[in-house]
Amino acid sequence: MLSYRHAFHAGNFADVLKHLVLANTLQYATRKAAPVFYLDTHAGAGLYRLNAEAAQKTGEAAAGIRKLDFGTLLAAAPEAARLALQTYQDAINPFLQCGQYPGSPILAAAMLRRQDHLQLYELHSTDYRLLLANTKTDKRIKCEQEDGFQSISVLLPPVQKRAVILIDPSYELKEDYSRAIKVFAAIYQRMPTAQALLWYPVVQRANINWMIEKLLHTEIRDLWQVELGIQADTDGFAMTASGLLLLNPPWTLPTQLRESLPLLQQQLAPATGHWLVENLVPEK
Ligand SMILES: C[S@@+](CC[C@H](N)C(=O)[O-])C[C@H]1O[C@@H](n2cnc3c(N)ncnc32)[C@H](O)[C@@H]1O
Repeated sequence: MLSYRHAFHAGNFADVLKHLVLANTLQYATRKAAPVFYLDTHAGAGLYRLNAEAAQKTGEAAAGIRKLDFGTLLAAAPEAARLALQTYQDAINPFLQCGQYPGSPILAAAMLRRQDHLQLYELHSTDYRLLLANTKTDKRIKCEQEDGFQSISVLLPPVQKRAVILIDPSYELKEDYSRAIKVFAAIYQRMPTAQALLWYPVVQRANINWMIEKLLHTEIRDLWQVELGIQADTDGFAMTASGLLLLNPPWTLPTQLRESLPLLQQQLAPATGHWLVENLVPEK
């Protein structure tokens, strides 16, 4: 039985990193006219109200997206970071202005074009209903209330030949760590050119080290790790940082992130924060 609801966490510091990376990956993917296939294996509800009871209860958006001052960020940013931060701000601003925060499916739908296709998976019955309601008028989108981990073998490679895949589990179940790694490796096997983003929370660092170690023993090339933390690692049960493992990121992304993450860290957690952009396996 799943109990995680992203409404309590939407717009937190983890969403800032995840959606900055997703927005810039999609921005790059849509430079060419050829259609893009977007797969979101763990979609959530799609759209969140920042003044809803759930968001107010945790205050995570207040310590995340609402803490950011984009004017100061953009003024301080070197060229690559300015473009990356601007892309993220442009994608979320129409929603923020209405007191909302877009989840990954709605952010992707806003950035993708008529010729692109979005395939969304969400298991939780309430969030699935909300996801359907939030996407029902968009003919490019198909939603399934099924296990997103199993979608890879069904859907890859897609007819579109270009794919951006977000794997964003809630890690409620211990096996999510091993399933996420298996899916990531399967993406590479079925479609080595796919651009894949696997999100992870740093709660127990050992779990993340284990995931990376496993991936280093696969065939995967062009593998990157990016991370943004608000506190040093602990032995407790709070999320102190979050990150993404990236397969085939746009060649522009590492520089964009090396320039953007220190600026974001300065605003989100100046005294205790940290960031990382590392190439774990080179392209060739
Ligand atoms: C972190 S949230 C997704 C947030 C969303 N990707 C975003 O960035 O806005 C994870 C979601 O995955 C759903 N979920 C958990 N296990 C799943 C599975 N095996 N297949 C599909 N959805 C799952 C949860 O119900 C939850 O809504």
